[in-house]
Amino acid sequence: MPLSISIAAANPSQFSGSLLAIPFAEGATLNDRLSKFDGNIGGAIQRSLDSRFFRAARDEVFHLSGGASGAARVILIGMGKVTDRAGSLRRAAAVASRNAAKLGGGDVGFFIDDATDQDVEAATVGLVAGSWEYKDLKTLPPENERRQAVTKATILADAADAQSALARGEAIGAGHSLARTLAMMPGNLCTPDHLAKTAEEIAARHAMKITVLGRKEMEAEGMGSFLCVAQGTPQDPKLIALEYAGGQPGQKPVTLVGKGLCFDSGGISIKPAQSMEDMKFDMCGAAGVLGAMDAIGRMRLPINVVGLIGATTNMPSGTAVNPGDVVKSHLGKYIEIINTDAEGRLVLADVLSYARKFDPQVVVDAATLTGACVIALGHTATGVFSSDENLISEIIAAGKRAGEPGWSLPLWDEYRELIKSDVADIKNSGGRPAGAVTAAMFLKEFTESYPWIHLDIAGTAYSDSDLVALPKGPTGVPTGTFIEFVRGRVS
Ligand code: BES
Ligand code: MN
Ligand code: ZN
Repeated sequence: MPLSISIAAANPSQFSGSLLAIPFAEGATLNDRLSKFDGNIGGAIQRSLDSRFFRAARDEVFHLSGGASGAARVILIGMGKVTDRAGSLRRAAAVASRNAAKLGGGDVGFFIDDATDQDVEAATVGLVAGSWEYKDLKTLPPENERRQAVTKATILADAADAQSALARGEAIGAGHSLARTLAMMPGNLCTPDHLAKTAEEIAARHAMKITVLGRKEMEAEGMGSFLCVAQGTPQDPKLIALEYAGGQPGQKPVTLVGKGLCFDSGGISIKPAQSMEDMKFDMCGAAGVLGAMDAIGRMRLPINVVGLIGATTNMPSGTAVNPGDVVKSHLGKYIEIINTDAEGRLVLADVLSYARKFDPQVVVDAATLTGACVIALGHTATGVFSSDENLISEIIAAGKRAGEPGWSLPLWDEYRELIKSDVADIKNSGGRPAGAVTAAMFLKEFTESYPWIHLDIAGTAYSDSDLVALPKGPTGVPTGTFIEFVRGRVS
């Protein structure tokens, strides 16, 4: 059930829900309203601060009991040293609603002192993120043993235009949740067909134009690179194009591209069994495109945006593509397949070539593209690749606003050597050295005639450990980066 969020006055004494969460930056003190509220609960907050039982370190959670009336429970949430206030509030709000869910749900209040509209928006995004769950495939326990979901949240804030900030936060939160749900769904349910169906729902919801190419249509288009990945599976591959026309007619669209491998077994160059199940997450780029398009539609942003997705699965079979095979791409370049597990770049090559059709002002692609990017940057930063320094700064700034850090890696011509082929124009793997860079260099070959930037989200799109604010599983990356990038392009 989606979380219903409302705004109330920034007065904690007036909140009477099941849990009141109060975020604290390190060293913060109680203002008048908090002091008064603290009086209602016997001075427990001041005591916890004075005693340093609660030090307001980042993600620290301190549980207090409510008074005889008002909030039933109180939790203090640490934000550590705050440099990015909206980011810290977003995270604290996620911790708040996650804790509320663990404690048994109900109505969670989130207090923001001296709130700006930006704070309210960020807290809303956080509350939604912290309450997200994927429970479709879990049998519910008997009614009397069920933990109540968090269904209601109240932001206690006196921001100038809190209502529209709330609406924006809800739009962004909905986009994140959609992306995470699609990512979490197992590969047998989240198929290319399902991604296309989801895109159709988004198109209908926001009056977007949608085009879906299947195997036949892609054959007619000459998409030999995309299709060679899909030739090992009987499922129909899908190239999905969503067109949102919120801007002036004729304005070149910002174009978002996502890798949508609903499962990546590696194909004939099959992957080891260890963690292969995580390759259901190989469609997180596509999920980010769908989540962002939904959020952009909900916010009615005044800008033209195109979302493109290349969806299929990478399977070994008697019809699968083999190492040594050469295919002809949509752009016309011949590609030698060295490793069938380097399939994302083959799918994206044709989608990036197809993107020319929309005459984009800029193309941003996101892909769980390489294990090498995880080795380079771990799970902390998304790999950012472009030949355009301004575009690199622009996307890193957008990621920062969204709480999705990125870091740039080189995309220099010297690396092109590594993907020279003996028989074709290019080969699809340059081996282990600079694996994230050579993958990006490969994509670059197919990005003619528009500014382009690539995000390798292999390390950041999902987590195999609990992240405190979020459980293990999909993080929502790159949805927020996409949304902030597009917002930043609204003129
Ligand atoms: N989907 C994988 C990349 C990946 C690995 C994502 C780990 C998330 C976690 C991609 O299709 C892949 O298999 N890449 C290969 C490329 C290599 C064969 C050149 C890789 O990274 O090993
Ligand atoms: Mn692969
Ligand atoms: Zn892959």
